[in-house]
Amino acid sequence: MIIINIKGLVQVRSKPPLKVSGSEMAELPIIEDAFLIIKNGIIEDFGRMEEYHEQYADAEDKTEVIDAAGKYVLPGFVDSHTHLVFAAYREGEFVDKINGLSYAEIAAKGGGILNSARKLQKMGEDALYDVSLPRAWEILSYGTVAVEIKSGYGLTPVDELKMLRVARRIGSETPLKVKTTFLGAHAIPQDRTREGYIKEILEVMIPGIADEGLADYIDVFCEKGFFTPEETELIVEEGKKFGMIPKIHANQLHISGGVQVGVKTKARSVDHLESMGQAEIDVLVGSDTMPTLLPGAAFFLNSSYPPARKMIEAGLPLAIATDYNPGSAPCGRMSQMLSHACIKMRMTPEEAINAITINTAFAMDVSDTHGSITRGKAGSMIITKEIPSLAFIPYAFGSDIVESVIVEGKKLDF
Ligand code: NIG
Ligand code: FE
Repeated sequence: MIIINIKGLVQVRSKPPLKVSGSEMAELPIIEDAFLIIKNGIIEDFGRMEEYHEQYADAEDKTEVIDAAGKYVLPGFVDSHTHLVFAAYREGEFVDKINGLSYAEIAAKGGGILNSARKLQKMGEDALYDVSLPRAWEILSYGTVAVEIKSGYGLTPVDELKMLRVARRIGSETPLKVKTTFLGAHAIPQDRTREGYIKEILEVMIPGIADEGLADYIDVFCEKGFFTPEETELIVEEGKKFGMIPKIHANQLHISGGVQVGVKTKARSVDHLESMGQAEIDVLVGSDTMPTLLPGAAFFLNSSYPPARKMIEAGLPLAIATDYNPGSAPCGRMSQMLSHACIKMRMTPEEAINAITINTAFAMDVSDTHGSITRGKAGSMIITKEIPSLAFIPYAFGSDIVESVIVEGKKLDF
C-alpha cells in the first residue's frame, strides 16, 4: 500500500524512545507533504513527497495507492486500559447518580461492579463473546488498533476464565492486537468473606489462568472499600510468580497507597490517578511505572481530573486510555480522550497525542510494533478526514475525524 500527498504524517520516529516524559511530551515529530509505504503489513518507508517520485512512482500500478491530500496520517491509537468484555450496560445507575447517589452508595446497595458480575455470571461464553464483539469493532472504527482488556466482572474462577477467553478470542478473531489482564481483585463478591475470596484468587484463579495462558497482566482495584495496598501487593506478587506483570487501579477515589505499591512491585502502569498528592508524584519520578490517566472516568463520574500539568512538570511520562466499561466510562473513543486531556487537564494536542500512542504502547508492551510511525513497525494507522490542523482533533470534541483505519496494510470496512 502506498499513501501519498499526506498533509501531515504524525508521530514519525526513526529511532523511537520507549516512552516520552516531561518536556519531551510536547514534541510530536511530523513530516508535512509526506508519503508512506506499507509492505507485507509492515511500515517499509516514508518521507517527503519530493523524495517519493524518483523511488516509488514506478510501483504505483502494481499496488493500492491512497491519495491523502488534506488529510493526516497517525499511528493507530493504543488503548492500554479497558474493560470492554461485559454483559450489559448500566445506564440505570447513571440515572441514580443524576438523582444524587454516589459511586460508593451505588456499590454498597449491590450495584456497580457486583451488578455487572451478576449479569455476566448468567451468560454463556459464546453469548458474552457475541455482545462484546461489536465493542471491539466499534473501537476499531474510532482508530484503536491495540487494546488491553481486563477481566473483573466474573469474580468466580469459572467466570473470570470465561471473560479472559472471550478477550483472547477478540484478539484472534478481529484485527485488534489484544493484551489481557486478570482483575479478579476488582470487588469482593457479596456472599464471600474477604479472606476466603483473596485466598481463592491466590490459590485457584491465578494458577488456573496461568495454566491456560490467559493473562499477560494482573491488576487490583486498590481503593478504600475495595482492596488495601497490602492485599494488592500480596495478589500481584503471586501473579508475578506465574508470569503476569502488575498493572494497578490506583488513587481513583482516594489517596489509596496504590501508586506506592505499584512502584514497589514494579508495575508496568498505575492507572486512574485522580487523587494525587506530592508524595505520589515524587515516588513515580525515576520509576519505570507508566502513570496512566483515564479522563473518561473522571468526566463520567464528575470527579476531579488527574493533575496532568503538575505531573509533566515533575518530568513524568503520561499515558491516556479510555477505561471503556459499563459503570464509570462507557466510551471507547480515544479521540474523545484527547479532548478531555486538552480541555480539562490543559495538555497540548501534541502532549495528548504522545499520551495515546507511544506512551500507551509502553504501558501494554507493544512498543516493538505500535505507537509510532517507524520502519519495521506494524502498518496500522489512521487516515483522518480533511481537517485544517492537528489541533482540530481535540478541538472538535464530538466529531468523527477518522476517515479510514488500516491494520497491517489492510484498509478496514465498517
Ligand atoms: O476503572 N475502578 C474500578 N473499575 C472500573 C469500573 C468499575 C465499574 O464497573 O463500575 C474503573 O473505573
Ligand atoms: Fe478500569
